[in-house]
Amino acid sequence: MGELIFRAMTSEDAAEVAALELKCFAMPWSREDFFREMRNELAEYIVGEIDGKIIAYAGAWVSLNQAEVMHVAVDESLRGQGVGTILFGEMIKAVKARGATAITLEVRPSNTAAIKLYENFGLKSVGRRKGYYLDNGEDALIMWNTKL
Ligand SMILES: CC(C)(COP(=O)(O)OP(=O)(O)OC[C@H]1O[C@@H](n2cnc3c(N)ncnc32)[C@H](O)[C@@H]1OP(=O)(O)O)[C@@H](O)C(=O)NCCC(=O)NCCS
Repeated sequence: MGELIFRAMTSEDAAEVAALELKCFAMPWSREDFFREMRNELAEYIVGEIDGKIIAYAGAWVSLNQAEVMHVAVDESLRGQGVGTILFGEMIKAVKARGATAITLEVRPSNTAAIKLYENFGLKSVGRRKGYYLDNGEDALIMWNTKL
């Protein structure tokens, strides 16, 4: 297997990222959604690829000093091997380069792998949004790290 390389997402990646998104999320964004994100000035997205194939991606909106994470995903066949940790570290580097000093996100309380990953980067659960996820009515945990 080739080397894992991270780079900024471009609009040419929209279809490939949307195909991976479909496999990773219950309420997936479409190719058009990612295409639109590439024209959003606030958006900071990265992809991880091996041998030219996208196997991970992450994105956030950075406004003033705050980054709001929109997506973090790793291809199912490559999970549990540290890729998510490298990906999230790279995304934090990217949002810090844009001036972010705080990062926030919403996550399903049932998503123990994601919560562990975020806690490893200093995010703490500070509250809940009731019934946030429309597919199953699950609450969202709101996590923050205000000292990036
Ligand atoms: C969340 C996700 C990105 C993690 O990616 P990954 O490559 O598996 O992450 P890592 O291998 O770097 O593991 C990160 C941490 O989670 C832990 N972890 C991984 N899988 C786990 C599991 N199934 N159960 C419990 N903990 C788990 C790891 O042990 C590691 O913690 P540690 O370093 O303290 O041991 C990946 O599971 C994913 O894409 N899930 C589907 C999409 C999703 O839910 N995204 C998050 C939405 S908020």
